[in-house]
Amino acid sequence: MIKKFTGVAATAAMLIALTGCAGGGGSGAQGGEGGSEDIVVGFAQVGAESGWRTANTTDIKRAFEEAGIELKFSDAQQKQENQIKAIRSYIQQQVDVIAFSPVVESGWDTVLKEAKDAGIPVVLTDRAVDSEDESLYVSFLGSDFVLEGERAGEWVNTEFADADQVNIVELQGTTGAAPANDRAEGFRNVVTDPKFEVVASQTGDFTRAGGKQVMEAFLKSNPDIDLVYAHNDDMGLGAIEAIEAAGLVPGEDIKIVTVDAVKDGMQALVDGKINFIVECSPLLGDQLVEIVQKVVAGEDVEKRIVTEETTFTQEQAAEALPNRQY
Ligand code: AHR
Repeated sequence: MIKKFTGVAATAAMLIALTGCAGGGGSGAQGGEGGSEDIVVGFAQVGAESGWRTANTTDIKRAFEEAGIELKFSDAQQKQENQIKAIRSYIQQQVDVIAFSPVVESGWDTVLKEAKDAGIPVVLTDRAVDSEDESLYVSFLGSDFVLEGERAGEWVNTEFADADQVNIVELQGTTGAAPANDRAEGFRNVVTDPKFEVVASQTGDFTRAGGKQVMEAFLKSNPDIDLVYAHNDDMGLGAIEAIEAAGLVPGEDIKIVTVDAVKDGMQALVDGKINFIVECSPLLGDQLVEIVQKVVAGEDVEKRIVTEETTFTQEQAAEALPNRQY
């Protein structure tokens, strides 16, 4: 572990920054004092709620292993209090950098201040916090969730261009989570024609079981649903099960648009059960390693790094699926 802000290690970090011996290139393990092999990172993950999350965890562990950086990993099981506990434990262990993907947006200021006071830089990955004090974290790496919601909405506008009335049900992500808030907002930014009505909207907690359960209830209370907007593939896949159990054909009787583009979602898109997917990439590992190496070397990092993403029609999914990594 690299000792912070003191004597020899600080000088070594400075030398690394000046000579470019470590960090910045994502080039793997570096030898010697202050190299990647001396860095210890604490990562507090949300949980294992979705295919996206599993792929994200796998990618992060792979990237840190390849870089020769020690990674302390914890799974918060979608509970903020567990994440706060994990962060406090990383502070106590004096790790070099803390990275985490916040379960929800609010309520982080106290623990982030504790990390700052201990001199431990924090990197946000995947999800944002709503803290007004941006000095509480050094960088935020992840998707533009508002844009994802807008992309889903743009497809809806085109798909239902000739319809008179469109009844939409929305399967929201975890209440209070940035992707749930932002995907709801983005969708509403562009789906503005009064012919569109969100007749029901409820959280399915980003899980397949949650999506199925909520969709079953939606189908009971809403006889005429035209479209499901699911904030992730897993909830969309759960909705497919509920729609089929109700004797309807997903993708035909009820259209479905989701976010993520994990393999199971892409397969359902190819099979015609989902109609459109907005990509949200979980492959953040290499970029996170690069940020960590730069931060430890005392180099500047960008405050906001937005992940590049695309969208998939059924035809595009058929082409992309064989080479899909996750
Ligand atoms: O924060 C990213 C979101 O979290 C993904 O879209 C979802 O699948 C995951 O659970």
